[in-house]
Amino acid sequence: MSVFRTKSIEASMASAEEADHKLKRTLSALDLTVFGIGVIIGAGIFTLTGRAAKDYAGPSIALSFVVGAIVCGLAALCYAEFASTVPISGSAYTFSYATLGELIAWIIGWDLLLELMLGASVVAQGWSQYLVTLLGQFGLKWPDAVGPGSTFDLPAFLLVAILTLLIAKGIKESMRVNLVLVGVKLFIVLFVIFAGISYINTANWSPFIPPSEPGKAAEGLTTPLIQLISGMTPATYGVMGIMAGAAIVFFAYIGFDVVATTAEEARNPQRDLPRGILGSLAICTILYVAVTLVITGMQNYKDIDPKAALATAFTQVGKDGFATLISAGAVAGLTTVVMTLMIGATRVTFAMSRDNLIPSSLGRTNPRTGTPVKLTLIIGTVVALIASLTPIGKLEEMVNIGTLTAFLLVSLAVPILRKRRPDLKRSFRVPGNPIVPWLSALACFYLVLNLSVETWIRFVVWMALGFLIYFAYSRTHSNVARGVDEARVEEAPEVVRER
Ligand code: ALA
Repeated sequence: MSVFRTKSIEASMASAEEADHKLKRTLSALDLTVFGIGVIIGAGIFTLTGRAAKDYAGPSIALSFVVGAIVCGLAALCYAEFASTVPISGSAYTFSYATLGELIAWIIGWDLLLELMLGASVVAQGWSQYLVTLLGQFGLKWPDAVGPGSTFDLPAFLLVAILTLLIAKGIKESMRVNLVLVGVKLFIVLFVIFAGISYINTANWSPFIPPSEPGKAAEGLTTPLIQLISGMTPATYGVMGIMAGAAIVFFAYIGFDVVATTAEEARNPQRDLPRGILGSLAICTILYVAVTLVITGMQNYKDIDPKAALATAFTQVGKDGFATLISAGAVAGLTTVVMTLMIGATRVTFAMSRDNLIPSSLGRTNPRTGTPVKLTLIIGTVVALIASLTPIGKLEEMVNIGTLTAFLLVSLAVPILRKRRPDLKRSFRVPGNPIVPWLSALACFYLVLNLSVETWIRFVVWMALGFLIYFAYSRTHSNVARGVDEARVEEAPEVVRER
């Protein structure tokens, strides 16, 4: 039994028709774009920007965002092609099952879980921090014993618990809440840009790329892997600083790929998924570059507060009221990020359970809500526990490495599927195949190398755990291994088989 066996596209389409593993198709192109923006804009821009500007790139953090956008843009093209060709829940996991084989699909699924569940936990802790700050701005004090950074982060726990119930209730309901919160979030981001412009002092932008310095931020296990391998002296700022900054603020872009996980819930996935993926990424890129230029223009990068760069930029010009507004925006904004990452995690595990790589009974959809309730509750519980009990808030880099690895493999898979299945209908095609997908893979690889050594070590441990589960359970239980899927294609309606 080869671990590189694939699941045919037809078999994936047929699985999506199974009655007890079926999702409701309700989302429009606008829903998907809002969904994308809802998950993209979050802790990255609200908290990481300050840290990355101060420690790595100075004002050229704006260029780090441009680099991040290019890498994500290339990967987004690959995702868009796949999503328009294989509109099945599970995103990169499903795409790779059809092309690179079961083991790689499992690895990607495992990576995506890292991205989505850890991402949700990290952002939930950021949310808790902002909530307590906001309450403080209103003169209310949250008890330290159950606040962020304590042994039990109660706000993070409550947030995840409430969102879990909402997600279990239904995708349309979740989207309605999402729409309102995304509106608030967009308003705040635009507010930062327009209110901040008049406070820009262009002297703060020079030098735009601060000269490279021996790096304090990059020592020992925190050294980017590339500097360790190449024997370069660890440095911050300069061009290397822009790249290290890009590898960190990459987190701010994570989420456009989650749009692809809802493929089975889109009304017209072939047309609307590429629009949702590319549209949300484009909008967020413009907003991010504008915000970073404003923030580094308002304050010298050395004075930026790494914890709350956006709010502090305004308090230091005497606008305390604006800072309160920004905290309120962050609380609203980070809520949708946590929610959407959790939806993504349930949809990926849903696809994996339908293939029996994890027990299929877990993924059954509830006929009333049209959602995989059991899986939602399991994921919600795990995220709530991690977010409330562990000091995970600083592990954004772990989320990045999981995501970048998935992007890399998806990029490699595009030319493979083009070759193997030229017959499939593709409503969106990556231009310049195979060069563009390869460039995408290369760019992801380069950013991964810019992550720290400790992140790599943690990632290797996570992957080892994944391999253990695969070889102990999934390899022998998978539907493909047991020939279940091919039988299903035979029984599937004509329209599915003909794709
Ligand atoms: N892109 C998301 C954020 O920045 C994960 O919070």
